[in-house]
Amino acid sequence: MNTTVDIVEVFASPLPSYVIADLFGVPIEDRHQFKHWIDVLFQPYDKERLHELEQEKQQAAKEYFEYLYPLVVQKRSNLADDIISDLIQVNIDGEGFTDEEIVQTTMLLLGAGVETTSHALTGARLLLFFRNN
Ligand code: HEM
Repeated sequence: MNTTVDIVEVFASPLPSYVIADLFGVPIEDRHQFKHWIDVLFQPYDKERLHELEQEKQQAAKEYFEYLYPLVVQKRSNLADDIISDLIQVNIDGEGFTDEEIVQTTMLLLGAGVETTSHALTGARLLLFFRNN
């Protein structure tokens, strides 16, 4: 039986955001919602849909913030082995990050960590495909 699998859709696209959600300490059951916000926030520039994209991204950023901010507040009194807890414990000359700054830092990590690894996984899989055929 021949089955076609879209490697990007089932593997290279979801995996990095699930891993980052886990590294942040986001509850595992929320990972689909988390991935949805990342997909919307990192949609590429499209001059035909500028206004629509801007609105979608603003809405996703608002929902992301409303989701993550209470988790940061909650973690302040319940530290765990995750990146958000590490950011909470940062202390530079007696100063730490505010809750807002921590949410913003997670957005930097998302931008830097999700697309890059997703593309690397896709490229690596493609390379393996050509090597084997
Ligand atoms: C295949 C995977 C990745 C590639 C190819 C990649 C590539 C890069 C490159 C080229 C830079 C700029 C370095 C410079 O010129 O200073 C960079 C910066 C950075 N990367 Fe990655 N990266 C990858 C994965 C990740 C992941 C998984 C994370 C975090 C979870 C991450 C976080 C960062 C951060 C925080 C910066 C610094 C951004 C800044 O200075 O504003 N990267 N990365």
